[in-house]
Amino acid sequence: APSSSDSSGDFLHCLSASIPSDLIFTQSSSSFTSVLVSYVRNPRFIASGTVRPLVIVTPTNASHVQATVLCGRLHGVRVRVRSGGHDYEGLSYRSVNPEAFAVVDLSLLRSVRVNAAKATAWVDSGATIGELYYAAAKASGDRLAFPAGLCPTIGVGGHFSGGGFGVLQRKYGLAADNFLDAILVDAEGRILDKRAMGREVFWAIRGGGGESFGIVLSWRVRLVPVPPKVTAFIVPVTVADGAVDVLTKWQQIGPALPEDLFVRVMAINDTAIFQSVYLGTCDALLPLMSSRFPELGMNRTHCREMTWVESVLYVYVGSGNPIPATDMLNRTYPMDGFYKATSDYVRDQPISRDVWAEIFGWLAKPNPGLMIMDPYGGRIGVVPESATPYPHRGGVLYNIQYMNFWGAGDDGEPHVRWIRDLYAFMAPHVSKDPREAYFNYRDLDLGRNVVVGNVSSYEAGKVWGEKYFKGNYKRLALAKGRIDPDDYFRNEQSIPPLVPRK
Ligand code: FDA
Repeated sequence: APSSSDSSGDFLHCLSASIPSDLIFTQSSSSFTSVLVSYVRNPRFIASGTVRPLVIVTPTNASHVQATVLCGRLHGVRVRVRSGGHDYEGLSYRSVNPEAFAVVDLSLLRSVRVNAAKATAWVDSGATIGELYYAAAKASGDRLAFPAGLCPTIGVGGHFSGGGFGVLQRKYGLAADNFLDAILVDAEGRILDKRAMGREVFWAIRGGGGESFGIVLSWRVRLVPVPPKVTAFIVPVTVADGAVDVLTKWQQIGPALPEDLFVRVMAINDTAIFQSVYLGTCDALLPLMSSRFPELGMNRTHCREMTWVESVLYVYVGSGNPIPATDMLNRTYPMDGFYKATSDYVRDQPISRDVWAEIFGWLAKPNPGLMIMDPYGGRIGVVPESATPYPHRGGVLYNIQYMNFWGAGDDGEPHVRWIRDLYAFMAPHVSKDPREAYFNYRDLDLGRNVVVGNVSSYEAGKVWGEKYFKGNYKRLALAKGRIDPDDYFRNEQSIPPLVPRK
């Protein structure tokens, strides 16, 4: 095993030969903890007993990333990469099992370069999606956007490589459907663009998770047009006011509405909160809502016209007054709760009214969490399953995310149990064979790698891999076999290498 303290010492020595010392934080540096926690978004994974990195490197250019990989390979220390630190299981900065590893934290590599005339941008992995949205809007007079997630502090690196969906998914698909190029540092320390990494690896990092293939430094993306004013609305409906019926109806309407209209639902306690962004005016939206979804009772008083960037914040924060677009640049939006999450997809058949009534029973139990339903249909559904590693496409009505939060001082056990019990209850009502899950809503309950002969096992990885990737799992493993056959870039749910026998 290469993790002895000797090799660790040699590794640190190697790093300091190529990287300025103020970018290297060992466990004995006074700022180690503050650098570590600065991008921890789930404080469960900084509790005592968590396996922490030996060292954190905060590169300011690509050569520092290359040097970390080369030193790591030479001295047998693995590297994990962190962009925004939002991983639900903290895998970008902690290891489940004891292991000496380094973290490459990309938060200082975060430039966003927009070419408004071409509607493209180069964005570094350490940028947040909020920074990208803001830059695209600013360069285009609020006419360009990018189809990715809702929470502005999400890091580009993890989010993009795992798929990335949000309010524009019905019109423009996933983030991963809109990449033109990428720059990757591989396990040999080489810098590769799309052509140099090859078709299969470029395919793999568009939804298969970057961490299995290397360290993605930056992405060239296609920006998408939005009107300078869009309309957002939030309409809460309680169970007493008919939430069960309205939500039952939404399952058919949400995925079938015109692509310009995105209406998602958050179910929490006794309320279904309908949250929407429409790429048009309130005047155009009202007749659409009253003809297609009159059950919701949405009317002119609910309309809020604003820029697209503002609408993302409006829906993310959930209620109240519109929030200034500059809040997109806040890298430390509060996200202090401890949490556990997991996901499902509902395909073909909507869930029955009776089952929704039971689900609201779950939401009324002690220590309940919440559910977020994102509608599919439109662009996200017409891309073929094999076009990117993200396979949850045609036939999906919506994605469900289950989350449960708790505070410091609570061990979270009843909250985690609530999620696991509800997940078991939901089994007959969601996708089957495999029961699909979203890679970016990472859940280690779905399975973990088993290492055999110092390589993650392809067979064992099917347990979780086919849930996230369905039939694309094998192709991902072959891509991994090409670029990293030794399985240097490895974590608890990284793609195992599959190397065809000659
Ligand atoms: P982080 O840095 O923790 O990385 C996540 C994983 O990607 C790790 O395994 C890491 O090693 C790897 N990785 C990171 N950077 C890499 C790089 N440069 N190269 C290679 N591998 C890299 N998702 C969504 O689709 N839509 C949404 O609306 C939301 N909303 C949301 C809200 C909140 C509050 C949270 C916490 C999360 C979401 N997500 C989401 C999920 C989010 O997409 C997911 O957690 C991303 O992986 C986060 O990317 P980060 O870079 O922030 O995470």
